[in-house]
Amino acid sequence: MAGSVLEKNDSANPLESIMSDNDKKGKFNRIQDILFYKRQRAKPASKFCALLDTLVLTERGASLELCEPHCQQKCLCLQIRAIQNGSLRVTVDELEPIKARYKVAHVLTGEPKYEKMRITRKREDCMSLTWGPGQYQVHVSASPFCLEVLCEEVVIVTLNPKGRLCFETRPSSSQQQDEEGPLGPWIFQQFEDIMANSSRPVGIDLCLHGFSHVYGLPEHADSLQLKDTSARDPYRLYNLDVFAYEINSRLGLYGSVPLLVAHKPDTTLGVFWLNASETLVDLKYVSKHQEQGERSRVTPQTDVSWVSESGRIDCFILLGPSPAQVFSQYAQLTGYQALPPMFSLGYHQCRWSYEDEEDVKSVDAGFDLHAIPYDVFWLDIDHTEGKRYFTWDSKHFPSPVDLQRHLQTKKRKLVVISDPHFKADPEWPLFCEARDGDHFVRSRDCRVYHGTCWPGDSCYLDFSSSRTRSWYSRQFLLANYKGSTESLFVWNDMNEPSVFSEPEKTMPKDAIHCGGWEHRELHNLYGFFQHLATFEGLLTRSGGLERPFVLSRSFFAGSQRLGAIWTGDSVATWDYLKISIPMLLSLSVTGIHFCGADVGGFWRDPDPELLVRWYQAGALQPFFRGHSDKRSMRREPWLFGDVVTSAVRAAVQQRYCLLPYWYTVFHQAHTSAMPPIRPLWVEFPKETETFTVDNQYMIGSALLVCPVTDPGVTEVKVLLPGSDELWYDVSSGEPHSGGRTLALPVTLESVPVFQRGGTLVPRRGGCSSCTADLQLLPFTLTVALDRKGFADGELYLDDGHSFSYRDKKEFCIRHFTIKAGRLTSRSAAEGGLFIPGCKLQRVIFLGQKSTNRRPTLKTDAGNVPVTFQFEPKQSMLTITDLDLDIHTDWEIII
Ligand code: NOJ
Repeated sequence: MAGSVLEKNDSANPLESIMSDNDKKGKFNRIQDILFYKRQRAKPASKFCALLDTLVLTERGASLELCEPHCQQKCLCLQIRAIQNGSLRVTVDELEPIKARYKVAHVLTGEPKYEKMRITRKREDCMSLTWGPGQYQVHVSASPFCLEVLCEEVVIVTLNPKGRLCFETRPSSSQQQDEEGPLGPWIFQQFEDIMANSSRPVGIDLCLHGFSHVYGLPEHADSLQLKDTSARDPYRLYNLDVFAYEINSRLGLYGSVPLLVAHKPDTTLGVFWLNASETLVDLKYVSKHQEQGERSRVTPQTDVSWVSESGRIDCFILLGPSPAQVFSQYAQLTGYQALPPMFSLGYHQCRWSYEDEEDVKSVDAGFDLHAIPYDVFWLDIDHTEGKRYFTWDSKHFPSPVDLQRHLQTKKRKLVVISDPHFKADPEWPLFCEARDGDHFVRSRDCRVYHGTCWPGDSCYLDFSSSRTRSWYSRQFLLANYKGSTESLFVWNDMNEPSVFSEPEKTMPKDAIHCGGWEHRELHNLYGFFQHLATFEGLLTRSGGLERPFVLSRSFFAGSQRLGAIWTGDSVATWDYLKISIPMLLSLSVTGIHFCGADVGGFWRDPDPELLVRWYQAGALQPFFRGHSDKRSMRREPWLFGDVVTSAVRAAVQQRYCLLPYWYTVFHQAHTSAMPPIRPLWVEFPKETETFTVDNQYMIGSALLVCPVTDPGVTEVKVLLPGSDELWYDVSSGEPHSGGRTLALPVTLESVPVFQRGGTLVPRRGGCSSCTADLQLLPFTLTVALDRKGFADGELYLDDGHSFSYRDKKEFCIRHFTIKAGRLTSRSAAEGGLFIPGCKLQRVIFLGQKSTNRRPTLKTDAGNVPVTFQFEPKQSMLTITDLDLDIHTDWEIII
């Protein structure tokens, strides 16, 4: 990549943020620079022993002591707790700490409910515990300490299999030598980290028996299936602002979720490592030969090794055993995806930066002129007065309220950026208020910490403090945020946090947060805390009535409760389009469901074909926003001629038609934790050929999509899983048998999308300019029959913006089932009081081979024949002019 040049900006030197590959090499730590990791890897096994006599069993699980014989180190406290939802929690902390270790707060939605455990076996050197019906057991071996988790007597996970448990409590004389000797102290360029106040590294190994596929651990620009790191760098979880990040790399990007999901045909397992400091994860896929009588059998296993720079060991084993159960167990701990307001599932138009109010209005009009629906206009940093968030540039944005009203008349919204750094400007009242209210992070010398970001010299709000979060939240009140209206929503960027002037472009680890905690303890939580404060700000602004929408670049486990995230500063090349799919799937399996990538690629200029393909891919992903860098050419979809305009229009219009389905799958994510976009193995857990697929995925359980991510393509190979399955090409209705790879011809206008036999997809027909307009259009149901003539599906509806669905039961869930030629519409068991006031007009049956009689509609009013067309060649029956209220019960007999 060429070196980069950016026009001089009035404040910070933007070159700090935008670098060529060569510059980047020196800017970010190489793995060999990460001292605690290097030391941990070089250390011999520690050989901790479990003191079984110290076991205490309470209502809330078991605890006992661990110690290292012949070592000065004090004892550790091990807790083993079974959680009612089917997970196991293993915690290790100091028994008598001189200073308590940092406990991650606000990520778990509450203290889990524990089960009582009982001892099933106790010997001098080992002991077994069980709980509930006794299907699972934990064996604790005393010396060396090791912990096995068994299901029906078969070991599924071993913790500390090789005695490498790491728990540094204070530097021993030998460690001190290490730090002062050949390995350290940690000096990077001219910066020094003296680690004066921090706790020490912790780590543990796990062996996952029988597993040869693991996923998760975002955010990395890498494959969906995690790679063996024996001969590569480990997965680094350290939130960093990496412009034009390298792809196929395990370097840490903007956010982290320390959740790993392992899968084999009969079991799915999760390992959640609750630690917010810098963390490295090594993986090794191993094949073990086991003698079984005469025969030897090869069994796979995955060795996983976690090391964190500080904090405690707090490890959750999510026992599954199905993918859906693992997702639900994880959501019960960290929360479900917030139900997005409907508008935020539409298309978003962004650019760094739209110039002024006229520019905004003309782009807005351009969408209407070209009949491309969109819902949200975005303003980047230049809309502010000198990068002071919560202000407006008086020359270019003199009438922000009018601008929002203008968009509002078209039922559209505005999103503005709000970064975590505050321009250090003693003339700016909000800065003074934050400074005087003690809301900024401090340096290790206790003075307010200063770093450089867009405004130049800046201070950083300490979002780890609940007092600061409340203060920040209040800034979003309409009375405080001048020029804002209730149709303004928020974008949190640069919240890793990004600090141009520091090593790795982030805050020094020894900066001090409220409570005296060093930044290193909570680094990966910083963006989460800003996201939380902004979310609460918007919630409070509406008196708790309206659903907030907040996009954040940085994230952690639990961020799904707060809004959306995107994959940051990509490049407008085919490789970045391709990698965006596994990146979004990795986020999806770790609970971050509302995710997307900048359509078109952020930096540089996509050629028209790439732009079209990116729109088509983005339209099939949860968060759908076009965005581009300051130095990229303008790329509103109509600037590239009719062919591009019409292909983009088609992709966006199809997204809008499919919104009832998207909203329904988001409601399922919100209530049952099933990700809206899913790797194929989630839906086909026994089909091993799906385990490595990361260019295709499912939207809900009905649609299989395979975005085109290569130039000049006339044919795409699509794996249609399941030999018993039927798949219908959505563009033609043509059926295909599953269990094979199909070579599908494509044009610039087409994208492979298939509906699975046995499912039902709701759509809205007709043209709309935004999601609000769409609500007036009638529904079409597409029923794709399986080989037995069966299908079912769901439709979720509510007002699309408030919490009335939750607080007043104002929602409507319809269940549709077809069996033996009878399609029924019934209300779901949960009930619901919402009357949507819209009609069902059309039902399309795919895979219907014949019609013997005239299809009839049965309602409370009696039976009536319906208008229909039957196309025997396509096995397609279409029933039209139904004019049924969508919330009513009916039956169609075909
Ligand atoms: C970095 C973000 O990733 C990008 O999307 C944004 O446009 C710039 N910051 C400027 O705010």
